[in-house]
Amino acid sequence: MEKIRVKIDGIETYVERGTSILNAAKGAGVHIPHLCYSENLSVTAACRLCIVEVEGNRSLVASCSTPVFDGMIVRTSTERVITARRHIIELLLSDHPKDCMVCEKSGDCLLERYAYEYGLREVRFRGEQHNYPVRSSNPFYERDYNKCILCGRCVTVCHEVQFCEAVDFSGRGFNTKVATFFDRSMAESPCVFCGNCVS
Ligand code: FES
Repeated sequence: MEKIRVKIDGIETYVERGTSILNAAKGAGVHIPHLCYSENLSVTAACRLCIVEVEGNRSLVASCSTPVFDGMIVRTSTERVITARRHIIELLLSDHPKDCMVCEKSGDCLLERYAYEYGLREVRFRGEQHNYPVRSSNPFYERDYNKCILCGRCVTVCHEVQFCEAVDFSGRGFNTKVATFFDRSMAESPCVFCGNCVS
């Protein structure tokens, strides 16, 4: 496959045509924060945390879904990029329980890690917050949608890896959530409790 030249944060690298900026950066040793991207799943570009600057582009682009082109110059941590990422994290946290100290995922949570890395100590955006009841009708796992950031990984893995299609996005806008058909219990869905969505 033809290799093309890309410059990321001043580092020149050669990658196959069609490679995403995110993966080209990874190969060059540059970490771009990301939440919805997962190596073995198709790209949904839902979280926008992986935005970067591409020389010649007016807008920031999602690096997970943007393929490189020959001669592309990418900057991953300019002031503009950092500010935009901080806003994205703040917006995610604005509708998220503030219980990191007692959350079971604490220490193993990307959102928590990025909030810390980007120096977010408080959330300036105050608005309506979800207050979904925790769904614990099956013996294997609970579903607490108050913690869901709608990255869609669970949906993609259920569709593309397990081929169950037990969950999908339902509703619109603020009311969007991941749910089974007619929001029934997992037991009433095609779920086989493989646990991939939980992972
Ligand atoms: Fe690129 Fe989420 S990782 S949009």
